[in-house]
Amino acid sequence: MTKAIRIHQPGGPDALSYDDIDVAAPQGKQVQIRFEAIGLNFIDCYHRSGLYPTPKLPHTLGMEGAGVVEAIGADVTEFKVGQRVCLGAALGCYTEVGNFHQNLVIPLPDEIEFETAAAMMLKGMTAHYLLRRIYKVSAEDTILFHAAAGGVGSIATQWAKSLGTTVIGTVGSEEKAALAKSQGCDYPILYREENFTDRVRELTNGEGVPVVYDSIGAATFEGSLDCLRPLGIMVTYGNATGPVPDFSPALLAQKGSLFITRPTLMSYVAKREDLLWAANDLFDVVKSGAVKIHINQKYDLKDTAQAHKDLEDRKTTGSTVLVP
Ligand SMILES: NC(=O)c1ccc[n+]([C@@H]2O[C@H](COP(=O)([O-])OP(=O)(O)OC[C@H]3O[C@@H](n4cnc5c(N)ncnc54)[C@H](OP(=O)(O)O)[C@@H]3O)[C@@H](O)[C@H]2O)c1
Repeated sequence: MTKAIRIHQPGGPDALSYDDIDVAAPQGKQVQIRFEAIGLNFIDCYHRSGLYPTPKLPHTLGMEGAGVVEAIGADVTEFKVGQRVCLGAALGCYTEVGNFHQNLVIPLPDEIEFETAAAMMLKGMTAHYLLRRIYKVSAEDTILFHAAAGGVGSIATQWAKSLGTTVIGTVGSEEKAALAKSQGCDYPILYREENFTDRVRELTNGEGVPVVYDSIGAATFEGSLDCLRPLGIMVTYGNATGPVPDFSPALLAQKGSLFITRPTLMSYVAKREDLLWAANDLFDVVKSGAVKIHINQKYDLKDTAQAHKDLEDRKTTGSTVLVP
């Protein structure tokens, strides 16, 4: 028997159930992993609530973790028992032990601890495609990154800073502003107290920014568009306040021939070569010290419901790890 956090029906944090499950021997190309640490992500809340439906019920949540290969299927070619590995885009990580297709599994370098890997793979590979693929930030750019003190925000701010980019970030409290600043955010904006659009215009001498990274969703959508300079790109990649409402493409014309994308990490790492590209670039910036992974909260796996409450109540900063 293995302990896992599952949902039987979508719902609030109380829908999370700490269950005993049977994990079969790995088949074919499956790798069986015993987790040392598991990452918490906002997408886990969307899966839990039903905003993003899970493929079946009951379902083991969680998409990020690190551990050791315990067994392999007969057709596994890339991994061996005892190897250190991690995952950053694989459903089913809220468990002591789980089976995953080898194409989703990433070899973990010895220099990176299990908890660090569990705290960074999904968030860091997201930062990678946001900053290095959708729009390649440079030292000439000033960018706007919402939720700068959060999990993705903390990693992305440091990564952008290491590339010489000037970072404007929004945060929900004075403490988060101080934290964001310490991680290289040049201009933290307390967006519940001041109008972030006006402040971005002021900071860019009225010009606006070339790119906005917006994971807040409904509450900030229009304000974010108004931060962009003509031909700027709006990257709406999350729904912390609910999905962006329907809009007419004519709005993008009115605001300066803007571009918009609604990406997901899954599309950017669907090919194995892209998964390994993202993971290896992330390992490099972490090993070099350009990006530090801050694990600011830790919970036992059985207390995942409390972790979800704290994440949704905006009480967390940086990364959160669940320990099986
Ligand atoms: N599309 C993708 O590929 C992808 C991948 C990873 C993550 N994401 C998205 O990126 C976002 C960040 O993920 P994360 O796991 O790193 O979470 P997080 O940033 O650690 O937590 C979310 C933050 O959003 C802010 N927020 C604003 N309004 C909120 C509200 N009504 N409820 C809760 N939080 C609110 C809070 O920061 P303040 O208090 O500072 O406002 C909160 O700390 C999420 O929206 C997630 O879905 C998308």
